[in-house]
Amino acid sequence: MTTRVEMKDVHKRYGSNDVIKGVDLQVEDNEVVVMIGPSGAGKSTVLRMINGLETTTSGEILIDGEDIAHPGVNIDKVREKIGMVFQHFNLFPNMSVLDNVTLAPTELGLQSKADAEKAGRELLESVGLGDKEDAMPASLSGGQKQRVAIARALAMKPDIMLFDEPTSALDPEMVGDVLEVMRKLAKEGMTMVIVTHEMGFAREVADRVVFFGDGKILEQGTPEQIFDHPQHERLQSFLDKVLNV
Ligand SMILES: Nc1ncnc2c1ncn2[C@@H]1O[C@H](COP(=O)(O)OP(=O)(O)OP(=O)(O)O)[C@@H](O)[C@H]1O
Ligand SMILES: [Mg+2]
Repeated sequence: MTTRVEMKDVHKRYGSNDVIKGVDLQVEDNEVVVMIGPSGAGKSTVLRMINGLETTTSGEILIDGEDIAHPGVNIDKVREKIGMVFQHFNLFPNMSVLDNVTLAPTELGLQSKADAEKAGRELLESVGLGDKEDAMPASLSGGQKQRVAIARALAMKPDIMLFDEPTSALDPEMVGDVLEVMRKLAKEGMTMVIVTHEMGFAREVADRVVFFGDGKILEQGTPEQIFDHPQHERLQSFLDKVLNV
């Protein structure tokens, strides 16, 4: 089995504030890891460090065995392997849906315009938006925008996809379509790290659930272990809160 992501004793400090306090996390090829935990626990910070948007204060992060902080490493090349989808979609408002999807691979010279458009149309089809290629982002619903954002990330043919609460800004009726796209990606074998508050989805799609609290991994295991037999008192009280709202 190939290890895609390996974090070794990673710390992150902002000023005098220790926000990540020694995280060891491994993500294997084809694995779906779901990160849960209370607000401020450090989940987003961990995702941002994995794709190099944020540096570490100490410790190592290896992507496909390569230390991303090593001076000789081309971080842009590493990041091409990693797709990221945020809570807010950040589509380019003045470009059509298809142009949003084809922009990165064409600008970076990875694909001709024609090849990128062909691939882009297939991706839009796969996220259920085959009829929207000429639409402008402003005319789409939140759920549709988020599916375009996923297609745009996939257009770079990433080996790893990171999702930071991709459905938490959506109206409830839009959530299902976005989760469906992610479910399909998981079935196709995409390596994924997902931060979500959708516990039903986490249970269904995760190979492993990781519970963060106060800058550390407090517990991890299969969905059954985490949801049915939580050990850590903090995990038990977190689940009590989120499952009984
Ligand atoms: N750029 C920054 N500068 C200073 N502090 C930061 C910065 N980014 C995050 N933090 C702090 O780091 C801690 C972890 O934040 P993070 O956003 O990773 O939490 P989270 O688990 O994603 O929370 P949420 O569920 O609310 O999204 C918080 O205390 C936050 O205030
Ligand atoms: Mg967050």
